Amino acid sequence: MSAGTPAGQPVITLAELPGVGAVRVLVDGVPVAVVRTEDGEVHAVGDTCTHADVSLAEGEVDDCSIECWLHGSRFDLRTGRPTALPAIRPVPVYPVTVEGDTVFVDVTTTVDAGDGSVAATKEN
Ligand code: FES
Repeated sequence: MSAGTPAGQPVITLAELPGVGAVRVLVDGVPVAVVRTEDGEVHAVGDTCTHADVSLAEGEVDDCSIECWLHGSRFDLRTGRPTALPAIRPVPVYPVTVEGDTVFVDVTTTVDAGDGSVAATKEN
């Protein structure tokens, strides 16, 4: 990837994101929750709770986690790992690039739940 070319594709603008909160978008058919946290950071995680088929974007964002509104599972936005039960499996975390006002998300790779490095590349 050359400098200045964000990975992934444009999915939303910063103006369309709440000050703190999440918006569900479909990226190549993949449901993604694009989340802005209190410190202004933007994250992208799989939008489906791993406990049941519920959109995480409808949940509350607090610190660097998002809470599933149905049963209260929380997921760390940096690692995708659940930090509160009942969910026990992580959600995928996708690389995000913000360029100007545009948020790019790359759903062809995921960020490792362990150390934040890119771990897997989906085959096309
Ligand atoms: S559906 Fe998300 S915690 Fe149960």
